[in-house]
Amino acid sequence: MGGKVNAAKKAAGMVEDCSVIGIGSGTTIEIFLEELGRRIKEEELTVYGVPSSYQSHLAALKNGVKIVDLFQYPELDICFDGADQVDENFNCIKGGGAALTREKIVATASKKVYIIVDSSKIVERLNMPVPIEVLPFACGFVEKKLAEIGKPVIRTGSGKLGPVVTDNGNFIIDCDFGEIKKPEELEREIDEIPGVVESGIFCSKLIDGVIAGYENKAEILKGKIRHQTQRGKNLSSHTFKP
Ligand code: 5RP
Repeated sequence: MGGKVNAAKKAAGMVEDCSVIGIGSGTTIEIFLEELGRRIKEEELTVYGVPSSYQSHLAALKNGVKIVDLFQYPELDICFDGADQVDENFNCIKGGGAALTREKIVATASKKVYIIVDSSKIVERLNMPVPIEVLPFACGFVEKKLAEIGKPVIRTGSGKLGPVVTDNGNFIIDCDFGEIKKPEELEREIDEIPGVVESGIFCSKLIDGVIAGYENKAEILKGKIRHQTQRGKNLSSHTFKP
């Protein structure tokens, strides 16, 4: 728990006055927003944000972030989000909170993307089931196609009978692929199935840094600087240092 809080606080300290931020979802982001709210009040900052879920929309509003959208700001300054698992090259699995599609949109729309995690989520290779958002109409077909390459399970939740319905009105399939050796290839393969809206694999090219929290500190890991194809900048990469 301490690691998550330390990482979220460090991230909140990186937000600049008058910036437009992409806001992920999850419990880590909720702590980030509380800390950001404290800064907004004490330092009289103005922060604009595009939230990726109803959860983070409500939390951002409560903490004084001015909610804007991608019509107003198709490009965002910086995005902060949590993750369920991060590998040492900064590939991530996201979507434990079923918000992966909007999370990928706000991340891709941002000039910089930082993932905030408790250090216990960092692994050598991704190996947990990948959340995949699917059009309900296509769910049976997508499940069958996924069963050819993994073990798919339609996600059900609490507070409602039947499948979890996302903020976009879709279903989630969690698909176990075992150890994921080539995340980028797998992401592409999943995305090619008609009916798949988005997958929870966030490849390292999207991520500029990981803010890792430990019991008594937080560190910004910059193991890889992402390819800058969307932004026309040069690619550079550094060695991962845990
Ligand atoms: C939601 C996500 C979250 O970022 C991820 O599940 C991590 O959540 P938490 O911060 O609660 O551990 O991808 O779709």
